[in-house]
Amino acid sequence: MKIKGLVAVVTGGASGLGEAAVTRLVENGGRAAILDLQEERGAALVEKLGSDNVLYIKTNVTSEEDVQSAVNQAVEKFGAIHAAINCAGIGAAEKTLGKEKPHDLGVFTKVIQVNLIGTFNVIRLAAEKMAQNAPNEEGERGVIINTASVAAFDGQIGQAAYSASKGGIVGMTLPIARDLSRNGIRVMTIAPGLIDTPLFAGAPEKVRQALGAMVPFPPRLGYPSEYAMLAQSIIENPLLNGETIRLDGAIRMQPK
Ligand SMILES: NC(=O)c1ccc[n+]([C@@H]2O[C@H](COP(=O)([O-])OP(=O)(O)OC[C@H]3O[C@@H](n4cnc5c(N)ncnc54)[C@H](O)[C@@H]3O)[C@@H](O)[C@H]2O)c1
Repeated sequence: MKIKGLVAVVTGGASGLGEAAVTRLVENGGRAAILDLQEERGAALVEKLGSDNVLYIKTNVTSEEDVQSAVNQAVEKFGAIHAAINCAGIGAAEKTLGKEKPHDLGVFTKVIQVNLIGTFNVIRLAAEKMAQNAPNEEGERGVIINTASVAAFDGQIGQAAYSASKGGIVGMTLPIARDLSRNGIRVMTIAPGLIDTPLFAGAPEKVRQALGAMVPFPPRLGYPSEYAMLAQSIIENPLLNGETIRLDGAIRMQPK
């Protein structure tokens, strides 16, 4: 699909990878609805990119009601939804069996709820809107991009919940692509390595450099814009479907 004239809903679009995707889409003639909890950052992005191009909708991706209302508002403002980019996510670090107690089940459940179930919630409701689009010359009505992590494959100590949530995203990519093939909707997942987003903003420069140096090549943290470049390629290339792409400079995470 072409970016010019495309309308996307971007969860987690107020920060990091989602923000980079929103910015790249708008710079190339697309428009975006940002579905995120961070009101201030969402409003700042609307101010920066223009309210004709960007709509911020305070949304919790785990809520059926919030996401239904958000996709309705996006269609009301922009006329359609052609792409959904799922970047909303949270992390957690806790061992299965800690020194004091076993892993908190509430924490495990919350990470799965936001990262995995939130992603599926947005996929199903955005797909319903996309299915109403007239197909383009390739027969495409929409494209969905999910965000997993290299932790889906090489999860570290303390990452049981996070890795399970991201592994779930990788696992559902192919069956959802198959489900939606009759609607002309493609489904892809990006599995980033270490990307320099607000996630790392609190870390001292020394730690950030040490993390970057672990990457075989290029030996640095990734830029959010590199995620956005891949998202653009996925949107534009009709043959990409049902697969997860690692975006990680060849890093393979060690146990810790
Ligand atoms: N930065 C990295 O190195 C990296 C690596 C691998 C995977 N990822 C994944 O990429 C995605 C984006 O991460 P980021 O680095 O840009 O982080 P980030 O914290 O900058 O952005 C995540 C955004 O998601 C939003 N969010 C969280 N819970 C939400 C909810 N319930 N409903 C709506 N919005 C919610 C937050 O408000 C935030 O704006 C996440 O899924 C993360 O797991 C990031």
